[in-house]
Amino acid sequence: MWVRNAWYVAAWDHEIAPGRIAARTIVDQPLVLYRTGAGEIVALEDRCCHRFAPLSLGRLEGDDLRCMYHGLKFAPDGRCIEIPGQPLIPRSACVRRYPARTVGSWVWVWMGDDAAAADPARIPSSVALDDPAYRLRAGQLDYAAHYLLIDDNLLDLSHLSFAHEKTLGLNMPQWADNRPTMTPIDRGLRVQRWLRNHAPSGFMKKLGERVDVWNSYDFIFPGVFLQRTVFFPPGTQDPTDTPLFYRVDEQAVTPMTERSSRYFYAAGARSGDLTDDRVDRLFDVTKAAFHEDKVIIEAQQKLIDLDPGRPMLPTSLDAGPTRFRKMVEAMVASGS
Ligand code: FES
Ligand SMILES: [Fe+2]
Repeated sequence: MWVRNAWYVAAWDHEIAPGRIAARTIVDQPLVLYRTGAGEIVALEDRCCHRFAPLSLGRLEGDDLRCMYHGLKFAPDGRCIEIPGQPLIPRSACVRRYPARTVGSWVWVWMGDDAAAADPARIPSSVALDDPAYRLRAGQLDYAAHYLLIDDNLLDLSHLSFAHEKTLGLNMPQWADNRPTMTPIDRGLRVQRWLRNHAPSGFMKKLGERVDVWNSYDFIFPGVFLQRTVFFPPGTQDPTDTPLFYRVDEQAVTPMTERSSRYFYAAGARSGDLTDDRVDRLFDVTKAAFHEDKVIIEAQQKLIDLDPGRPMLPTSLDAGPTRFRKMVEAMVASGS
């Protein structure tokens, strides 16, 4: 059961280049995305109302999209405006238009039935990739897994000490030993913790022999992860003090089908904290870590599917995933 009344990340903004037609699937719905001449994103149902050919195999004609099976042409609002060989266009000749917005560098699409309920104010703000205050790199990854397994992973960073022992764990057993505080926020959780007395490695050694690390992220339905990992001199109490290093990670998990999800991610730091070369290295490590997640989560999904009714063993590590899943269950139950 999907939550339909929500904004979902459909693409990086740069993927919807002028003149390009992009096919996407979100919560089992086929979408076609393109950009008008004025730069506005159009998201339509990717299913021609005539005989259900995908419009993503069609042709852009100015701001309109023509189905290249029998030639019906659709305006950006989804109305059919031409039927070859038939002057009369019935009112029912249309495809659904989904509200779409770019916020930060993500293209968001509202998947709810009621377009009037699509409040752009509910889209979480994220840093644009070209924001001069930061140096960021971006990528994406497809998972053969249910999106909530990826959410579980992001809501329990204790796995950094094990799944990412040699990449993001960075010799920080505290990820597993330290329980974070969790505060409810709109459709999500804020997760925060201090990781004290950490010995930085690699190029972070220049920060000092020991540092205290403040890790804070907002996790918002369906899987938006907005994290700051901030390095301070040892003994720092206030995470708003001037930091030594300020890392940014912004990610979004989008359910495509029951067993496929797309994971959008950006990683970097304040522009003064890293050279381009260093941000490339940081990003390479991050990408390697995300492949570690993918391997373990896809394997986990296969084992779950072998025996779907089998109960898991709850531990204190599961507080975040458990709370978030309860929120999602409540959203599904309320018909969101
Ligand atoms: S299926 Fe699109 S025009 Fe026939
Ligand atoms: Fe991970």
